[in-house]
Amino acid sequence: MSNYILEHASEFERLEKQSQNKYYDYESELSDFLPKIGSNILDAGCGSGVVSRFLARKFPHSKVTGCDFSGERIRQASSFAETIGNLDFKQANLLSADFEASTFDSIVCRYVLEHLKNKEVKAVLTEFHRCLRPGGTACLIDIDGYLYNMFPQSEFIEQCFSKIKTAPAPDFNIGRQLPKMIADAGFTKVRWRIETMQFQGEELKTEIELISERFVQAMPFLEVILGNDHHARRFVDEYLETLRCPNSVLFYNKFIVTAEKQGLINVKEAGV
Ligand SMILES: C[S@@+](CC[C@H](N)C(=O)[O-])C[C@H]1O[C@@H](n2cnc3c(N)ncnc32)[C@H](O)[C@@H]1O
Repeated sequence: MSNYILEHASEFERLEKQSQNKYYDYESELSDFLPKIGSNILDAGCGSGVVSRFLARKFPHSKVTGCDFSGERIRQASSFAETIGNLDFKQANLLSADFEASTFDSIVCRYVLEHLKNKEVKAVLTEFHRCLRPGGTACLIDIDGYLYNMFPQSEFIEQCFSKIKTAPAPDFNIGRQLPKMIADAGFTKVRWRIETMQFQGEELKTEIELISERFVQAMPFLEVILGNDHHARRFVDEYLETLRCPNSVLFYNKFIVTAEKQGLINVKEAGV
C-alpha cells in the first residue's frame, strides 16, 4: 500500500492546478537547469507529469523519463502526454527502481522527498548517485516550513503540530536537510538557494484553497496521527479559520538544491 498521504482520486487534477500557481512555478525553480543536448533526464516522482512535459518540450533533443510508484498517476500522465515523442513514463518505486547504473545525465526530484522517511531519503539519494553518469547532476526541489510557519497558533494547533512532527513521514522541514544529505550520499559541488513563499491578500486566499484540498486528501493520515476524526476535523477547521483572520501570517521556504556526481578524474590534474 502507498504511504503517500495525498493519494486520492483527485490527485492528478490537484497537481496540475498547483503547478499553475505562481508560488509553485516549476519554470522559475528550474531556471538554472541546463542539460546538455542529447541528455537522458529522469523526473523522479513525476506525479501528473507536469514537470516531465515541461522538460521534454523545453529540451527536445533530450530524452525524458517520468517515474512514479502510483500506477494510476503513470497512466494519467502518459495519456496526457501522448503527443510528446521524447517522453516516456515508467511505474517504479524510487526505493527499489531497477534503473541501470550510470543511466541518466540529470535527475529532477520535486516535492517528493518530503513524503519519505529520513532513512528512505538517504536510500533514494544514494540510488540517484548510482543511476547518474559521472558528471551528471541532481536537482532537488522541496519545501521547508510548510504547515508550521503560521501565526497565531492556538494551544490546540501547537499540540497537533507536535503530534504531526512525530510521524516518520511526511517531513515538512526536509528542505534544510537536503544539502548535507546529498553530500553524504556522495555528491559534490552542492549548491542551494531558497525561494520564499509568503502569502498575503488574494495570494493567501488561493493558498488556503490549496491547503483545504490537501487536508481533504490527507484526512486519513490526520485522523490516525491526531487520534480520531473529531480531532482531525477540529485541527483542519481551526487552522483554516486562523489563516482567514486579519493579519495572520503564512510562509514557507522552497529549497532548490543542485549537486553533481564526480566526473571522471583527469589523471594529470590528479597528479598521478
Ligand atoms: C507532491 S507529488 C509531486 C509530483 C511532481 N513531482 C510535481 O512536482 O508535481 C509527490 C509524488 O511522489 C510520488 N512518490 C512518493 N513516494 C514515492 C516513491 N517512493 N517512489 C516513487 N514515487 C513516489 C507520489 O506518488 C506523488 O506522485
